[in-house]
Amino acid sequence: MILVTGGAGFIGANFVLDWLATSDEPVINLDALTYAGNRETLAPLEGDARHLFVHGDICDRALVERLFAEHKPRAVVHFAAESHVDRSIDGPGAFVRTNVDGTFTLLEAARAHWSALPAGERELFRFLHVSTDEVYGSLGPNDPAFTETKTYEPNSPYSASKAASDHLVRAWHHTYGLPVLTTNCSNNYGHYQFPEKLIPLMIVNALAGKPLPIYGDGQNVRDWLYVGDHCSAIREVLARGRLGETYNVGGWNEMANLEIVHTLCALLDELRPSAAGSYARLVTYVKDRPGHDRRYAIDARKIERELGWRPAETFQSGIRKTVQWYLDNPGWIANVQSGAYRDWVARNYAGREVQP
Ligand SMILES: NC(=O)c1ccc[n+]([C@@H]2O[C@H](COP(=O)([O-])OP(=O)(O)OC[C@H]3O[C@@H](n4cnc5c(N)ncnc54)[C@H](O)[C@@H]3O)[C@@H](O)[C@H]2O)c1
Repeated sequence: MILVTGGAGFIGANFVLDWLATSDEPVINLDALTYAGNRETLAPLEGDARHLFVHGDICDRALVERLFAEHKPRAVVHFAAESHVDRSIDGPGAFVRTNVDGTFTLLEAARAHWSALPAGERELFRFLHVSTDEVYGSLGPNDPAFTETKTYEPNSPYSASKAASDHLVRAWHHTYGLPVLTTNCSNNYGHYQFPEKLIPLMIVNALAGKPLPIYGDGQNVRDWLYVGDHCSAIREVLARGRLGETYNVGGWNEMANLEIVHTLCALLDELRPSAAGSYARLVTYVKDRPGHDRRYAIDARKIERELGWRPAETFQSGIRKTVQWYLDNPGWIANVQSGAYRDWVARNYAGREVQP
């Protein structure tokens, strides 16, 4: 089996659902259920013996060691993190704790487990660390896209904490020989994303007739990748990546935030027209985020060259699916917005008879 951390979050939950849709290898899913963890997303796996959900913290060394000892996972896929840049500006402490200390705790527990394995199993063990392109810093308009050898220049507490975790992972390979792999991916979008991030926030606000807040001039550029493509890239790297290597993962799709928002408005105008007129009327410019990186761009040629991976979705196909999903799932959105998703487990099991 594999141990997934943060598998109740946006990408982790998509990964676990996709994994169990394509494989029967069981998953232990360790997640602290912070505000970003949502077990309702994992509802399709309730009662599925291949999925063992453990409510716990990656900083809890005793718990993590116990999971390794009891379940002997052949691999770790490490998603758990504090992931929102704005929140990291507001309260960086949680980012250092989870992203740095938590990764350190996992690495140490993985190292102890891996060192004690018999030779054959030790060679097969993998620790895959899921990271971000934000560690590389900000690009000018004509700079080449980030390659895996780009110097690290993190600018936000979030990216600095992820950069620190990447360095720990690298060092555990070089110093101890732990068989690690790192992926640095661009911005993800898709179903089950918490509506604090740009794309779901804009969809949810537009449908509610609320302003669509654009930071600064809206010309901050990001590369965008459909979440299912990120998950397939991780599966490829886990299966065939070269030990100790990092792989950039991207969608070959650079877009300015304002362009993203106008694309969403146009899709909503088509799929759910509003009597009040185009959703673009709701676009509102707000004061920029402090230290807002101007441009990220990913050169994803290494993963294509070595592992033959390319995204399956274009931005047009992925964003249409995403908007349609949010239109089709108002219950999921309402539960997230009201906070009711936190009670989902209690409600789901309330009144159910225990089977003998
Ligand atoms: N979202 C993106 O666009 C993006 C892009 C590239 C890389 N990443 C990376 O991918 C990973 C997942 O991102 P996401 O967008 O799914 O994040 P998310 O915020 O949606 O989910 C994070 C999950 O981690 C859990 N978690 C947080 N602290 C924990 C702790 N101490 N112990 C156990 N679980 C804890 C949360 O409960 C949540 O379920 C992160 O490492 C992030 O840095 C994200």
